[in-house]
Amino acid sequence: MSTTVDMKDVKSDEKKPVDVMAKPDQLTVTLSAPQSLIPDSIQPAEPPAVELTVLSNRSKQIFEEALKIIPSGASSNMRVHLHEPYPVIFDHGRGSKVWDADGNEYIDYLMAYGALILGHAHPNIIAGITEQIKKGTLFGTTTELEVEVAKLVCSCVPCAEMVSFANTGTEATMEAIRIARAVTGKDKLLKFEGHYHGHHDYVLYSVDSPSAVAGLESAPAKLAYFPGIPDAVSQTVLIAPWNNVSALERTLKKRNNEIAAVICEPVMTNQGVIAPAPDYLKQLRELTTKYDVLLIFDEVVTGFRLAKGGAQELYGVIPDLACYAKALGGGAPIAAVAGKREYMSQIGPGKIGYGGTYNANAISLAAAKATLETLLAHNGDSFKHMAEMGTKLRDGLKEVFNVPGYRAVVNAVGPVLSIAFSSRLKEVVTYRQSLLADQDKFERFRAEMLRRGIYSHPDGAERWTLTMVHTEKDIENTITAARESIKALRSRKET
Ligand SMILES: Cc1ncc(COP(=O)(O)O)c(C=O)c1O
Repeated sequence: MSTTVDMKDVKSDEKKPVDVMAKPDQLTVTLSAPQSLIPDSIQPAEPPAVELTVLSNRSKQIFEEALKIIPSGASSNMRVHLHEPYPVIFDHGRGSKVWDADGNEYIDYLMAYGALILGHAHPNIIAGITEQIKKGTLFGTTTELEVEVAKLVCSCVPCAEMVSFANTGTEATMEAIRIARAVTGKDKLLKFEGHYHGHHDYVLYSVDSPSAVAGLESAPAKLAYFPGIPDAVSQTVLIAPWNNVSALERTLKKRNNEIAAVICEPVMTNQGVIAPAPDYLKQLRELTTKYDVLLIFDEVVTGFRLAKGGAQELYGVIPDLACYAKALGGGAPIAAVAGKREYMSQIGPGKIGYGGTYNANAISLAAAKATLETLLAHNGDSFKHMAEMGTKLRDGLKEVFNVPGYRAVVNAVGPVLSIAFSSRLKEVVTYRQSLLADQDKFERFRAEMLRRGIYSHPDGAERWTLTMVHTEKDIENTITAARESIKALRSRKET
């Protein structure tokens, strides 16, 4: 079967070559029964630009306009954080590539902070959303599609006996914490230094603590991320160091009567990528069970990415509740709280509150269905492919950085990767080690990469995300660009 999806008008057609530089409303993509993980229709016709001389004047102009009317010029702080002198502004994307407002092409490793697990403009997602829009976008009732996607989620996620939808990772962690508090009758939340769980007040402590004020590594200071968070909220939060079992046990032993839940990113992905130490998640599970505290895995990044069952499948540890977003919708706003029936079934009228006008909206559900079905096709080969690409990029970069002046630790867990430049660090397995990475050096490297058509976030602590549609060629081009970038920096003696 072959279906052509036009953004203006959906109609059947034979396979046509895709004009990768077309504006989104002119795009015609071909959807056929996938023969490989990466549809032909999203493979670029041309190799990526090798050397960009003028970066993006239009980006500068658009950003100047944005600054006049949108605070800091963006609707999310990370979109402007460390982007100097202005952010590159994207116009359209296709597969693993993205084009800025001046038409410069990049291999994209931001991938909308990991949401685009199938890359940009995947034909299956376009088809799913297009079909659904014609039937209706939002109903305000339970829908059959909602049940279908709920079943898909439960078939993938080990802890998911029941699931409920929301729109963002922030909402999902907020709801999961409320469930934990309600079912345990306790108020406090234990979170780890350096872990990020979204933008609500309960979790915005010790997310990005600078070393000068972070306190002892074994007993981290509790620091609000920014102003505006009521001081009273801090009384509900306890902070522990990640990958330190004895510090965790000490707190649980002393405060278990107050702690409703421990929440964690099962793999740290928001301050560099830091895997759990061997058996650490198992010990976390044992300790939370022993002290009668719920365990919440925030799988907003790891879910539907490290494996079909996320980190809990990869590490064989089953939490009580888990939160999903990003990859679940392949770019559409959808999130989920999943977990054990004994806890999830407490949601409902007269029981635990849970709600949202746009929860389980039909457009996002259609995108989620297309995303999950695409990921699960071919016996889940997509997860193997993503992990292989992650390993290939990690190994290639490690070799490139094995030179005086630009030594770096490259961490990767499956398809998420981070680079920490340092002449001293041999490994980065703790938050405090991640703080020692040389950010200036990363920015210089990133600027060189940008000129060579490789896009990553300018913050070295921000992960690089590979997707189902990053190809071996993309990885090879990226490693070549990295080698040339380091050569250029070293020849200018910028070390
Ligand atoms: C681990 C984790 N949890 C929660 C969130 C919040 O998700 P959202 O931005 O969809 O609210 C994020 C966002 O980056 C995240 O990385």
